[in-house]
Amino acid sequence: MQAETHPGGPAIPVRRPRQVLSTSIPRHWVEDDPGTTHFFDALSSTFPFGESFFVRSVNCYRDRIEDPVLRERIRGFAGQEGQHSRLHDEHVEMLLGEGYRLIAVRNRIFERILRWQNRRQPRFSLAVTAALEHLTALMARRVLSEPERMTGAMHPEMGRLWRWHALEEAEHKSVAYDVLTIVAPGLWRRNLAMALVTVELAFEVWLRMAYMLYVDGLLWRRGVWTKALRFVFGRGGLLRGVGADYRAWYRRDFHPDQLDDRALIARHAPGITAEMTA
Ligand SMILES: [Fe+2]
Ligand SMILES: [Fe+2]
Repeated sequence: MQAETHPGGPAIPVRRPRQVLSTSIPRHWVEDDPGTTHFFDALSSTFPFGESFFVRSVNCYRDRIEDPVLRERIRGFAGQEGQHSRLHDEHVEMLLGEGYRLIAVRNRIFERILRWQNRRQPRFSLAVTAALEHLTALMARRVLSEPERMTGAMHPEMGRLWRWHALEEAEHKSVAYDVLTIVAPGLWRRNLAMALVTVELAFEVWLRMAYMLYVDGLLWRRGVWTKALRFVFGRGGLLRGVGADYRAWYRRDFHPDQLDDRALIARHAPGITAEMTA
């Protein structure tokens, strides 16, 4: 499935991966690296409730959007995020089966809070969604720019999962933002949302990582943390060099498509689609 481009950004095809995560995935599926494994486990474990929240936040305003292209893109966005939730749910089931039971408890709490937030603060929910979509798009861009460095040490099934998710985050990254600029364009809300979610996401990922390492009996192993921190922040790491693109969000004239991912999408879409749907 080739990504086409049109004035609203790249096309947003809803791929329906057949892959289910098999039982052959080891507990530490980034080779010799429990810390980085749990970094991705932590991120992944927030996706099922997080992405359902994103879809509710955007769909809440679907009827106010008159532009048929954007309406179509909302449909694609919801379809892609629905598939992500489904596969990351499998990942969460895998984690629960490995004994990280508190993840289910924490996810239930978040699910309730976010449903409440959708009802009581729909505009802020949309701003939070757009902000988190920017953060995921920054990570996606890094994964697609250097897929071997970012996913090469992963178990093959996990590598496929993360490349596919990265591709689709790049494809739909501007949808929530475009809806936000139509229904709630205020700069303060957008910036406050980003400041809050940056801190919250960092804290949540750290907390979940620490919990999983505690269950593994590795919480106090310095080398485990050092290796994970190097993967995330070190030279060539996942978040290395994204600072300027992150800060661009706070500019009044920011738009996600100013970071043009179309060449990356065109390069990777055929291969990733083939490996996920074969
Ligand atoms: Fe997603
Ligand atoms: Fe997304």
